[in-house]
Amino acid sequence: MNALCTLTNRHLLSHAKSLILLGLFGVVLSFAGPQARAEGSELAKEELACLSCHDKVEPGKKLENGEILSLAISTKAYVESMHKETSCEDCHSDIDAKTHGKKITPIKSKRDFTLSMRESCRACHKKNFTQYEDSVHAALIKDGSKEAPLCSDCHNPHTVRSTKTVEPITATPCANCHENIFKAYAKDVHGLARIANGKTAPLCADCHKAHNVQAASLGSGVKDACLSCHENAVDQHKDWLPNASRHFEAISCPVCHAPTAQRRVNLRLYDNVAMKQISEKAGVPQFEKRTQAADTKDLGLNERALWSLLKEFNQDGGEGKTVLRGRLEVLSGVDAHQLSEKSKAIRDCKTCHQKGAEPFQSVTLTIAGPDGRPIRHVVQQEVLTSLLATESVRGFYAIGSTRIKLLDTLLIMVMLGAVSVPIGHMTIKRLFKSVREKLAAERIAARSETDGQDSTHHRRTDDDASKNSRS
Ligand code: HEC
Ligand code: HEC
Ligand code: HEC
Ligand code: HEC
Ligand code: HEC
Ligand code: HEC
Ligand code: HEC
Ligand code: HEC
Ligand code: HEC
Repeated sequence: MNALCTLTNRHLLSHAKSLILLGLFGVVLSFAGPQARAEGSELAKEELACLSCHDKVEPGKKLENGEILSLAISTKAYVESMHKETSCEDCHSDIDAKTHGKKITPIKSKRDFTLSMRESCRACHKKNFTQYEDSVHAALIKDGSKEAPLCSDCHNPHTVRSTKTVEPITATPCANCHENIFKAYAKDVHGLARIANGKTAPLCADCHKAHNVQAASLGSGVKDACLSCHENAVDQHKDWLPNASRHFEAISCPVCHAPTAQRRVNLRLYDNVAMKQISEKAGVPQFEKRTQAADTKDLGLNERALWSLLKEFNQDGGEGKTVLRGRLEVLSGVDAHQLSEKSKAIRDCKTCHQKGAEPFQSVTLTIAGPDGRPIRHVVQQEVLTSLLATESVRGFYAIGSTRIKLLDTLLIMVMLGAVSVPIGHMTIKRLFKSVREKLAAERIAARSETDGQDSTHHRRTDDDASKNSRS
């Protein structure tokens, strides 16, 4: 009965697979013991043949490096997977039915086996494959990394479920390898929102993409991903932050939104002609050689060393082509995933616009590596205040120095209540706000004398709120 059923099934499958399958499925269910039959009958004879050996508890196959490769494939999980209509041989085309299972085929290691299977996804998932090939993970693999993921590290081909199902956050494949970042994320504002409300809040791939993952600090980082959900973010900051889009360009979002993070200035080597970060060419490393030569004592690059380094880089391309661009960012990957609710975000201008401000105490010079990840060299922090004075370094304008001094002056004026021109707009608004608040307070005070408790209470809540948002 069983065999007949499968046979018929196989025959019909080749004609009008799913329609008839549905019908048969019904028949099978009404006739026979539910589980075993339902499983087998959805698969073709060939698959069942493979599974007759592989759906078993077995000791596994010993590989040349001593690892054990489990050979067990669960029929149940396979039938429930998105690949239930994909034949084993579509992916395992190199299996020779005559000798398979009888003769030992040597395999070096698990990783070697995974690598040998990597092309098997290409034929049916071209789009994902092409995107993946452009990723930092693929670049790492090309460079010999044993830890970076291939398709089958993120998707088990024998059990893969629809990616549309909402799974618990722990099911994200990223968590397996970026464990510390995952732990931080799980407790931050998005992780908690994701646990509470499901897919509206981002998981790793919503900010970094799943296949075309790029180095996180490359270009403008993941800012565009943030803005794709928080569409009004620029406007929401404009209310209190002058030139918000300028700030967004120079500051990575977690710098303000992960309030306990450590921060630093990243001076990026930048191609002023092509308008992008300079990247190290694969195979001809120049950055490390040059920075080491410029900093033989390993104390960090000083003003002069940085200056001559820039000159060297400019010899490659032409005068003024290579410049430095400053960016404020957080120190570690964990820091970047500790975003908290908006009331805790940094809005005190003095955090940055003040002599000796904390974010400017740590400075690094970077070039984008061949895979996009930054290669760094420490820079002495004094450089920020001294280098800018020397106009000789054309195009080198870093955040933190002359500009900051000017801003200090502006801020002092704001604090003294003197309306200054560049940020006058905001100051006026603030002045008006306090006048408005004063008038409102007087009005309410007058009213509460006659009305009693209610409005007084109301007023108090308002007061608290405005105190919070100002601090
Ligand atoms: C969509 C492609 C695909 C299909 C379909 C597929 N496999 Fe695989 N299989 C792979 C890949 C890729 C690997 C290597 C996985 C890894 O890296 O460990 C693999 C590994 C295996 C292994 C080694 C053990 C393991 O899990 O790594 C066995 C045994 C196996 N497959 C059997 C089967 C059988 C039997 C079927 C059909 C019922 C099947 N496969 C269908 C892609 C596929
Ligand atoms: C007669 C039992 C049997 C059948 C049928 C069978 N296998 Fe295997 N398979 C084995 C054994 C035994 C091994 C371990 C071989 C070794 O140690 O080299 C194995 C190993 C494998 C491996 C690991 C890689 C390798 O080559 O060692 C894959 C993948 C695999 N089988 C897939 C399949 C697929 C796909 C089918 C159906 C087309 C299939 N097997 C049918 C017994 C079987
Ligand atoms: C012979 C064609 C074929 C091959 C080869 C193949 N797949 Fe698939 N894959 C499918 C089909 C058909 C589906 C069903 C969903 C669909 O229509 O996209 C699917 C679905 C998936 C899904 C779920 C998609 C979703 O919509 O959520 C993932 C993930 C996936 N495959 C990964 C892989 C990986 C990884 C490999 C290589 C190990 C691979 N596939 C090889 C045909 C294939
Ligand atoms: C670093 C982990 C990772 C790697 C490597 C990876 N994927 Fe995915 N893939 C995901 C995640 C996560 C999703 C869920 C979709 C999302 O959130 O964008 C996904 C979704 C998919 C989907 C369904 C959605 C779609 O875009 O069609 C397919 C098919 C797929 N992957 C195939 C592949 C193939 C083929 C490869 C190898 C070229 C691959 N994946 C490599 C993590 C990965
Ligand atoms: C809300 C968006 C968001 C989510 C969700 C997110 N990240 Fe990030 N990730 C970022 C930002 C922002 C950075 C820092 C980029 C920069 O320098 O500007 C970053 C940086 C990284 C880095 C680089 C760390 C380093 O050492 O420089 C890795 C790796 C990373 N994320 C992995 C993950 C993983 C894994 C997850 C899921 C557990 C995840 N991210 C979830 C936004 C996100
Ligand atoms: C099989 C392990 C593995 C998986 C799974 C994996 N990664 Fe990675 N990833 C790595 C390794 C190894 C590196 C390089 C070392 C590093 O930077 O942490 C890397 C690097 C990165 C980087 C670049 C780090 C930088 O400095 O900017 C990002 C971003 C990233 N991964 C995000 C993800 C996301 C998102 C996922 C899930 C969709 C994921 N990774 C899944 C192993 C993995
Ligand atoms: C200079 C520090 C700073 C930077 C840089 C910054 N933010 Fe904010 N952000 C804040 C503060 C402070 C608040 C709270 C404002 C309030 O309470 O009205 C806030 C509020 C928000 C909110 C909540 C808005 C609302 O009113 O509901 C979102 C979303 C947000 N920021 C996203 C971002 C994104 C995305 C970036 C990067 C592109 C970013 N922020 C960069 C300081 C900053
Ligand atoms: C997939 C959409 C999505 C992406 C991408 C995204 N967020 Fe969010 N974000 C949300 C959701 C949903 C919430 C929870 C909203 C709520 O609770 O009101 C949230 C909450 C926040 C909050 C807290 C707001 C508050 O009211 O306290 C901040 C700050 C924030 N996100 C910043 C960012 C930053 C920075 C990035 C990029 C690094 C980013 N978000 C990327 C969807 C997203
Ligand atoms: C997290 C650090 C940080 C905070 C907080 C911050 N700024 Fe800035 N600000 C910067 C940096 C860095 C620049 C330089 C951007 C650039 O490259 O031009 C800047 C630039 C400016 C500029 C010049 C913008 C232009 O048009 O070029 C003004 C004005 C300014 N900030 C005012 C403020 C005020 C007022 C506040 C408080 C409400 C504030 N900033 C909060 C870091 C910060």
